[in-house]
Amino acid sequence: MSKKPFKLWKKPALKLETTTLWDYPSQHYGEKPQGSKEYTGATPSYVVWNLLERYTREGDIVLDPMCGSGTTLDVCNDLKRNGLGFDLAPFREDIVQADARHLPLKNQSVDFVFIDPPYSNHIQYSGHKNCIGELDARTPLYYEAMEKVIAEIYRVMKNRRYMALYVSDSFKKGKPFAPLGFELFQRMCNLFKPVDIICVTRHNRTMKRNHWHTAAVEGNYFLRGFNYLFIMKKEEPSADK
Ligand SMILES: C[S@@+](CC[C@H](N)C(=O)[O-])C[C@H]1O[C@@H](n2cnc3c(N)ncnc32)[C@H](O)[C@@H]1O
Repeated sequence: MSKKPFKLWKKPALKLETTTLWDYPSQHYGEKPQGSKEYTGATPSYVVWNLLERYTREGDIVLDPMCGSGTTLDVCNDLKRNGLGFDLAPFREDIVQADARHLPLKNQSVDFVFIDPPYSNHIQYSGHKNCIGELDARTPLYYEAMEKVIAEIYRVMKNRRYMALYVSDSFKKGKPFAPLGFELFQRMCNLFKPVDIICVTRHNRTMKRNHWHTAAVEGNYFLRGFNYLFIMKKEEPSADK
């Protein structure tokens, strides 16, 4: 009997997403990873790639105020954008230590902002006392902190430019549901003009574990299947350029 030839799985080529439902089967595109494989809570790099392709040009200044493992900076390098990465706990040398509520940047100095903040306190990042990942999104403290981050993003962005925030709602068995997406979207609309809401399919290891799905049926709850990607525009009527 002849054996079937063993086929290596190949990542699909990157493409510009054209609908509000985004999906790519890998955390990283291409041969080498963007950001770090070891970092819990890293952003799938094709999300940043799609945003930069659509909303920025070569040479633009792109800010990530909660840069984590540096995914945004690596995509910036690939696309010849000038990435600026800040984090409370820098993971590597090209990330500058700063609190996203107080960035060492001038008013109206960046062309695009991407941010993937902590979604409540289910992942331990640095344990730093100012880490927003220490705040429970079922309390006002989380939203007060995130409102300051959103206002800081608005301050440093040039007028008529775009930003995107990537977030998931938070569910913990036995605790009330925390609709972070709606809560943060509403707060961003106080400053920015909403441009679109994208659903990004989640492909984490949890989703592949059968017992998680069994538990979700037995416990009558749902696993997180998507992240929101909110795209906003700064439109300051009085300012010019
Ligand atoms: C979801 S992770 C970002 C992941 C990143 N996009 C990546 O691809 O690796 C959230 C990050 O926010 C950072 N963070 C939390 N509170 C912060 C604050 N007040 N200022 C700056 N960074 C903060 C954490 O240290 C963590 O690295």
